[in-house]
Amino acid sequence: MRISPSILNCDFSDLRGELAKISNADWAHVDIMDNHFVPNLTMGVPIVESIVGVTPIPVDTHLMIEDPDRWAPAFAEAGAKSVTFHAEAAAAPLRLARELRAMGARAGLGLKPATPIEPYLDILDEFDMILIMTVEPGFGGQSFIESMMPKVARTREAVNKSGLDVWIQVDGGISRKTIEIAAEAGADTFVAGSAVYKSEDAYAEVEALRELAMRHTHSH
Ligand code: DX5
Ligand code: ZN
Repeated sequence: MRISPSILNCDFSDLRGELAKISNADWAHVDIMDNHFVPNLTMGVPIVESIVGVTPIPVDTHLMIEDPDRWAPAFAEAGAKSVTFHAEAAAAPLRLARELRAMGARAGLGLKPATPIEPYLDILDEFDMILIMTVEPGFGGQSFIESMMPKVARTREAVNKSGLDVWIQVDGGISRKTIEIAAEAGADTFVAGSAVYKSEDAYAEVEALRELAMRHTHSH
């Protein structure tokens, strides 16, 4: 069970301090938005490079951008240990995943809520992680879409059947209220933005979330 706090709602004037607050996190989730794939704009490669330079936590980049085929490798080059691009945006997802892996990064495939997992079940071995969005991507602080749980469960079933070690990440509206549902459905990697950064004690929130997830591990 891995907790990957999203820094989308942190204080960007003090990135170093905000990252230090989550020193117990397994990953640091960094949301890249281009104002085309999603109606919001965040940051690019230079800031990711700076983040990598100030935290020992591995950086989990989530690219909500058009044309990831062109842009994603630069994030691996910048030092992100995981690079997730969206299935809806990639022209050649297999070629891109292979390129990212050849650069030493984990390759993640992201799915918006209305995108099915089924077309990708035969090529799970090409990816290190499947990201199942539990909100429409674009903003932090939205509510968890519980109707995504069957997709998580079908992905879990396929991963277990394949014997592959593909991680299943959920992102959007994850909190103490929803993490157990997602863990029971089969997720093992949890992004939490506002739940962590809007809490009084980010470190304690990461601990609490991990503990809840571990208590509700998918078991069938
Ligand atoms: C949304 C981003 C998320 C976001 C999650 O498009 O991909 O990573 O920061 O924030 P919360 O946990 O507040 O939904
Ligand atoms: Zn994200």
